[in-house]
Amino acid sequence: MSELDGKTVLVTGGSRGLGEAVVRRFATAGCRVIINYAHDRAAAERVAAETGGEIFRCDIGDEDAVERMFDQIGDVDVLVNNARIDPYRRAAGLSDGEWWDQVMRINLKGAYLCGKFALERMKPKRWGRLIHISSLWAYQPATARMLSYAASKSALHALSRGFAALGAPFGITSNVLAPGLILTDLATVRLTPEQLAEEAARIPLGRGATPAEVAEAVWNIATTAFLTGEIINLNGGTFMRP
Ligand SMILES: NC(=O)c1ccc[n+]([C@@H]2O[C@H](COP(=O)([O-])OP(=O)(O)OC[C@H]3O[C@@H](n4cnc5c(N)ncnc54)[C@H](OP(=O)(O)O)[C@@H]3O)[C@@H](O)[C@H]2O)c1
Repeated sequence: MSELDGKTVLVTGGSRGLGEAVVRRFATAGCRVIINYAHDRAAAERVAAETGGEIFRCDIGDEDAVERMFDQIGDVDVLVNNARIDPYRRAAGLSDGEWWDQVMRINLKGAYLCGKFALERMKPKRWGRLIHISSLWAYQPATARMLSYAASKSALHALSRGFAALGAPFGITSNVLAPGLILTDLATVRLTPEQLAEEAARIPLGRGATPAEVAEAVWNIATTAFLTGEIINLNGGTFMRP
């Protein structure tokens, strides 16, 4: 039995990529895992069938929907704020301001809402873990495409520290995990082999992380009771670059 056996874990955006790997990690440890998704039910159902998790469709940018989700799930012990809007899927015709609002609505407001409702439900139990998935983009100067994405991830760091302060008297921790390149199916399909090699060459360890490696770091954060208000950078040594 693992130390989180029987705990309820909500993974936003648990239907693919890193979220799916996190679902697998916690399900293997005997947790009840809720696989949140917004659009692709088939993907969420596949992960549920393979892990024994439960699916829950909810647009995390919709406050009423998030409240309903928490009411229906009941207790949540671990929240992994992982969902994001895909920065490569900006709809044609959106103005820069409209795109900014969409990115902030999901990446930041969604994380805030889920964190807020989770915190309230964790307080009576005097135990809880809030884990927010950020990105190397929170630090590095953004490209035009990634500007709002980077700003949303940076803001997540402030959000997590606030939750850490609010949760500490109740034994609830809040931390950020900021990965560099993750070799999700999407990343390996989207980037050409040449682009992947270029990315890898910029990383001192010479490669991106596997989703399972990043999920293991999420697990380590969840099982480290004395860690709170921190940002864990998992980027293959990128910060050692001159
Ligand atoms: N991939 C990388 O290289 C990389 C690097 C650093 C950090 N990260 C971070 O790691 C996390 C996961 O990245 P990923 O590449 O695995 O993401 P992804 O493949 O784009 O998956 C995003 C997930 O979020 C869900 N989602 C999107 N909009 C939602 C909404 N409004 N409400 C609820 N769920 C929603 C999606 O579900 P639907 O398909 O149903 O919409 C999907 O499950 C993100 O926070 C990302 O910023 C990724």
